[in-house]
Amino acid sequence: MLCENITVNGNRLYFAGVDTVKMAEKYGTPLFLMDENRIREKCRIYIDAMKKHFGKDSFPLFASKALCFKRIYEIMKEEKMGIDLVSSGEIYTAAKAGFGMEKSFFHGNNKTDADIAYAMENGVGYFVADSIYELSAVDRIAEEKGIRQKMILRLTPGIDPHTYAAVATGKVDSKFGVAIETGQAELFLKEALTFENLDIRGYHCHVGSQVFDEDGDVYLEASTIMLHFAKKMEETYGFKAEILNMGGGFGVRYTESDPYLDIEKAIESLSKHIKATVAELGMTMPKVIMEPGRSIVADAGMTLYSVGTLKEITGYKNYVSIDGGMTDNPRFALYGSKYTLLLANRMDEECDFECDVVGRCCESGDIIQPEVKLPKPVRGDIVAVCTTGAYNFSMASNYNRIPRPAVVMLADGEDYLAVRRETFADIAERDV
Ligand code: LLP
Repeated sequence: MLCENITVNGNRLYFAGVDTVKMAEKYGTPLFLMDENRIREKCRIYIDAMKKHFGKDSFPLFASKALCFKRIYEIMKEEKMGIDLVSSGEIYTAAKAGFGMEKSFFHGNNKTDADIAYAMENGVGYFVADSIYELSAVDRIAEEKGIRQKMILRLTPGIDPHTYAAVATGKVDSKFGVAIETGQAELFLKEALTFENLDIRGYHCHVGSQVFDEDGDVYLEASTIMLHFAKKMEETYGFKAEILNMGGGFGVRYTESDPYLDIEKAIESLSKHIKATVAELGMTMPKVIMEPGRSIVADAGMTLYSVGTLKEITGYKNYVSIDGGMTDNPRFALYGSKYTLLLANRMDEECDFECDVVGRCCESGDIIQPEVKLPKPVRGDIVAVCTTGAYNFSMASNYNRIPRPAVVMLADGEDYLAVRRETFADIAERDV
């Protein structure tokens, strides 16, 4: 199976040891299921590996953008994770969950004055400055608030991972960060050091998302470039970077043909490389931070749908329509992402019916996955889409005024609601 939390019992699909068909009956469809134990296990893998290989001050941040609701922050707090935040909405949600903000990093290429003030009021630990323009705004608001804001600078090391274009963010021409190659990163640091209310602590880079070892050692390469830059800045301006945040991006398995990435091993090889480079350059070892999102929650998630109609176009193709779609999973529509689909109530039958599994939106591009093989579905069957824990719930929309699904957590064989299903009234609530 794709992941060890997916099992079969008779004709039934089980997820995290729970009968998925029972969950569909109990909570309705479409439905997001989240395997809480798996999330915790992944947090621990990162925490332990980073401590072991980088040292006790090193820690991971959960990239909230991958999955954001109150319960997630409670789990992150219990697991002693830090968090990466990209909006005031994420800050609001984390604060509501009682997440202590010292270990939070606030990203974003366009933080408004209101965002900056809100983050400071909530005690966000670090700002990740994305551009030279941000510096003066943060400095001004920090002065108003009488604080010295800790900050790291987001740089683009000019690395091109072989992932899909929409998520390759470490390239020189990215909308994020400041390029090292063009000399602008140096000016960025030089300028940052002139502000009295900014406490510059180090650097950040993020090469991209859904990146595997097989893509070449992009993290190693990026860290080499970052450390050489840091060394040069040390020599030129006497600035010693205390923090090196290497971003997120480790890939996960969406299909059986995707490679398996061993997180601990990847961290170990990155740490060996960073330690060797630091030694070679005669620098002090920085506190290394990473920001995984997808690899923490993706395979802890599964979406359940009910089959509605079947359309067989003789001599052409077959469509199976389900009761969700691009409103709860826009990833095929946006990136052509691959997924594994299963017929949760007929797991013992042969998958001999090829079809496109499509959503219910008024849009031809509303496809969950084309060319899927399933037992020929009938109305009421339950389709499960695996590996939907990252960037599905968080990217869900109300297109066609479709309510967003509920999120049910599964832990130790028990189930509980983390986010209730949206209602029509919720959707229309703000209409005046
Ligand atoms: N740090 C930064 C600065 C990022 O931009 C991202 C992801 C992460 C960390 C977490 O990366 P992860 O470990 O999750 O790969 N919506 C797209 C993914 C966008 C990723 C954006 N940045 C998708 O559905 O594939």
